[in-house]
Amino acid sequence: SETNLLAQIAEKKIVPVVKLDYADQAQPLGEALCSGGLPVAEITFRTDAAEESIKTMKKEFPEMTVGAGTVVNAEQAKRAVDAGAAFLVSPGISRPVIEFALDNHLPVFPGICTPSEVMIAMEYGLPVVKFFPAGQYGGLSTIKALAAPFPTIKFMPTGGINASNILDFLAFDKVIACGGSWMVKDSFIREGNFDEITRLTAEAVALAH
Ligand code: 3PG
Repeated sequence: SETNLLAQIAEKKIVPVVKLDYADQAQPLGEALCSGGLPVAEITFRTDAAEESIKTMKKEFPEMTVGAGTVVNAEQAKRAVDAGAAFLVSPGISRPVIEFALDNHLPVFPGICTPSEVMIAMEYGLPVVKFFPAGQYGGLSTIKALAAPFPTIKFMPTGGINASNILDFLAFDKVIACGGSWMVKDSFIREGNFDEITRLTAEAVALAH
């Protein structure tokens, strides 16, 4: 259920944001994330491999929470849902994406960085928004300012988060989890450096828990 998914993400505290060029990278990546103690991934629709990668990761690692990221329109939302994504993340507010997710009973985290955008998410009754890009839009102090008028809303900041600043974000009770690509950088995946992914993932998990 939606509540379960939110609880899973809140419990894990970190959502690796992944870009895969080839679906056959999904198996070693899933292995690396699970070995690092973080069986969760947001696979972004920045590449054509997203759909197949979601399917592969879910099939190989049924215990993983696999969602879709960078979902920018209803067509991608449909492909993500058909691939079995457990949640949808968008870099911004897209009414068609939100409506598709709600129609399919899937949690959706639209990207916001202004009060007006939070209010659009609230029109749909969404409990959690992605604050993106967190670093460039003022980081934690902006989240605190946005949280003041919207006491029911929780935030998942993403963008510029890494091992050196994640604890600042997680210390604020309105932050349910942080997203980021620092432990799953493109170069690690391209070079097949899955050991480094496991190392940085384990480091992040140890920090956050
Ligand atoms: C995202 O879409 O969430 C970001 O690209 C992740 O941000 P980061 O690469 O700065 O961690």
